[in-house]
Amino acid sequence: MKKTLLASAAALVLGSAASAQVVGFSQIGSESGWRAAETTVTQQEAEARGIQLQFSDAQQKQENQIAAVRSFIAQGVDAILLAPVVATGWDAVLEEAAEAEIPVVLLDRMVDSDPSLYLTAVGSDLVHEGEVAGQWLAEQVGEEPCRVVELQGTTGSSPAIDRAQGFRNGIEGHANIEIVQSQTGDFTRAQGKTVMEAFLQAENGGADICALYAHNDDMAVGAIQAIKEAGLKPGEDILVVSIDAVPDIFQAMAAGEANATVELTPNMAGPAFDALQAYWDAGTEPEKFIQTESKLYTQADDPQGEYDRRKGLGY
Ligand code: AHR
Repeated sequence: MKKTLLASAAALVLGSAASAQVVGFSQIGSESGWRAAETTVTQQEAEARGIQLQFSDAQQKQENQIAAVRSFIAQGVDAILLAPVVATGWDAVLEEAAEAEIPVVLLDRMVDSDPSLYLTAVGSDLVHEGEVAGQWLAEQVGEEPCRVVELQGTTGSSPAIDRAQGFRNGIEGHANIEIVQSQTGDFTRAQGKTVMEAFLQAENGGADICALYAHNDDMAVGAIQAIKEAGLKPGEDILVVSIDAVPDIFQAMAAGEANATVELTPNMAGPAFDALQAYWDAGTEPEKFIQTESKLYTQADDPQGEYDRRKGLGY
């Protein structure tokens, strides 16, 4: 009898271990500090919930992401998290996941596929982020003429498309503000610096530039370096506004070298796992879009304190 009880207790323990949910996570890569933090937070959230996370780094390539999703489907995982590098080209693989009845949750970027092909998407209002940045600039410059250079994110990605549109919405009606240069910096610090160097050269050594709008903080940090090397003062000679709210931009803000950033939380996984848990437990269908907050920070918002608060968080 005792033996039988022990055996069933062992079976229960084994049973509970074996029933841990397995989630495949196809991450874009590690192009920015923000993305590194999203990866860290996702791993922490999975661990805290006893979820077994299969992580795949696509090195910025969509074909690697598609291959990873196919491999997750072949393994029969319980769900897939997908941070899609670009917005198009996902129909076939999402249909394969749907056929296998594996729920897919999009993280931080959108796709142009039919929403029935994924369970939900967790992300910010990317157009709104650009609008906040544009409105902030419009307030700063008032009636003064302002020539803006724009560092765009990865071409074809939803944040690059939406943040470009949002900024234009934000400065609409302000004829004194003109976007005079716009090019992709692929969301990386290195590209941000290289492209900013070209902007400075094209714009009278930077004398004709009033502001930089960067689709993420990492590109802004690279551009700040280029501005300094050109002998100008970032944050004064050229205003700098960007998106993400990573520690390094707060450090730049504390030094007076950046002016404003719009926060994008790296914790997309928390709401994603909550939605998945409700779906696994009771078949509850979440909203198609779970929106995270976007908050504007300026030099008036204790940038040194923000840096201190965020620096240990995996960025
Ligand atoms: O999709 C979110 C964007 O991707 C972040 O703003 C950027 O830093 C990242 O690489």
